[in-house]
Amino acid sequence: MKMGELVSAGDRAEIFTYGSGTLVKLFRKEISSRHIQREANNTMTAKAYGLPVPAVKDIIHFNGREGIVMEHIQGPTITNILRKSPHKIKTYAQKFAQVQADLHSISVTDFPSQREFMEKTILNSLGRLGHDTTETILKLFKDLPDADRVCHNDFHQENIIFSKNGPVILDWQEALRGNPIADVVHAVLVQEHPVPAPILKTSSYYFQLHNKYRKLFAKFYLQEYMKLTNTSSGQIRDWLIPVAATRLFTKVSMEEKDWTEKYIRKQLGALAT
Ligand SMILES: Nc1ncnc2c1ncn2[C@@H]1O[C@H](COP(=O)(O)OP(=O)(O)O)[C@@H](O)[C@H]1O
Ligand SMILES: [Mg+2]
Repeated sequence: MKMGELVSAGDRAEIFTYGSGTLVKLFRKEISSRHIQREANNTMTAKAYGLPVPAVKDIIHFNGREGIVMEHIQGPTITNILRKSPHKIKTYAQKFAQVQADLHSISVTDFPSQREFMEKTILNSLGRLGHDTTETILKLFKDLPDADRVCHNDFHQENIIFSKNGPVILDWQEALRGNPIADVVHAVLVQEHPVPAPILKTSSYYFQLHNKYRKLFAKFYLQEYMKLTNTSSGQIRDWLIPVAATRLFTKVSMEEKDWTEKYIRKQLGALAT
């Protein structure tokens, strides 16, 4: 079969249409087979739990690269929708919360342990945060309750497609089994970290406006999630520092790591007073 049109190009992979009703997520050469296999396995496991995810069809090799062939879900992401209709921010932030709350209602046994993942990644931030701060964060983390819910661990606006059959969740590379509040805090941090505006790139006013808009989405989303799941703001607060610390190690940019480090130090300062 031939590669079709380019649908999306990210840091880790390019997505091409591939045959009828299918596309291929073709990973860059430097992404290991083990990671690709894990993403395919996670997606299939999520499907087996009855979650709304694309069906995985095959793994292929193309010009020295590996790709996952999967069902092509038709429809816009939340980013696509809000770019056209920014006034729908509250509606879609609430839908985003609902999709995640539904996901979090599922207990699982198959995904990797969030507890092990978080402990390992917090320890990996030692070089940046120093021994004492890392120890403090590990201690905060160890007091938090474990759980066995499915956590997507990269839940953001572009990983959900609103198809005519309902929302479909993409990109299962990082999925874990654990406490859903960590997944929520992760989504809030992604949304709160300032990013360049998609248009009017040289305007600092527009940059500020764009990022205020993203924060407003996070606020509506979090309010709705807490309401749907009966989660308190104290429960959310407890996870902020440990989850932020895991973002110092994962695939985020150097700029985001610097922002996250400042965020952690500010939160730790607030704890101490
Ligand atoms: N199965 C799919 N059906 C439709 N669009 C998809 C599908 N998989 C990926 N895409 C599109 O490609 C984008 C990037 O795919 P994703 O799996 O999230 O890769 P990345 O790891 O680069 O974030 C998505 O935001 C979506 O727009
Ligand atoms: Mg993605």
